[in-house]
Amino acid sequence: MKGVAFPAGWRLEGLQRSHKRKSFSSGEEAVDSWLRQNAWQSQSKRLTSTKVLIDENDRLAGYYTLATAQVDFSDLPPEMVRKLPRQRLPVAVLTWLGVDHSAHRRGIGARLLATALRDCFEASQTFAFVAVILDCLNNEAKKFYERFDFQPLPGYPMRLFRPAGRLEAMMKT
Ligand SMILES: CC(C)(COP(=O)(O)OP(=O)(O)OC[C@H]1O[C@@H](n2cnc3c(N)ncnc32)[C@H](O)[C@@H]1OP(=O)(O)O)[C@@H](O)C(=O)NCCC(=O)NCCS
Repeated sequence: MKGVAFPAGWRLEGLQRSHKRKSFSSGEEAVDSWLRQNAWQSQSKRLTSTKVLIDENDRLAGYYTLATAQVDFSDLPPEMVRKLPRQRLPVAVLTWLGVDHSAHRRGIGARLLATALRDCFEASQTFAFVAVILDCLNNEAKKFYERFDFQPLPGYPMRLFRPAGRLEAMMKT
């Protein structure tokens, strides 16, 4: 993945207080209210990091939020943790991703996801983690992520993962 191109005039920015979040509507209330009410505060407390996609008319067209966490080795697939210590293991978390309904089905979500994974890859060069994980809000979102090589964690059908080792391969394509 050499680079992700958004439509001409669109730009990706780190979330700032001045970004107009109120009108954002992805069609999924939890995704919208996180952006409107929690994303800025959470980022101010250094709990999460959010990037927003701004369209050519300065409207907020999409966003994603990343965080870090730990999961118990027993929550990850046995083939993945076979050679890892039996302890809590670091992971990157794609906590939220949404596209405004006006921009759905134009490849924006795919490009935001690719950008989020590139951010994860770049972070992994400095702060190691074993996988990227995310929780799906519904089966539609699950189908979207499964198109991009995410797989369910055993015993957690709505929690998906992608091994960190596979990020590197993706960056070379
Ligand atoms: C899920 C979401 C981010 C997809 O964004 P999008 O910009 O419409 O998606 P894209 O146009 O990039 O689609 C990429 C691929 O996924 C497919 N896809 C998109 N939405 C899908 C869905 N709901 N179910 C199944 N497949 C879907 C597209 O057909 C496309 O496949 P293709 O490349 O073979 O054509 C967007 O619908 C959204 O914001 N939904 C509400 C919020 C949400 O559920 N977020 C995820 C949970 S945190």
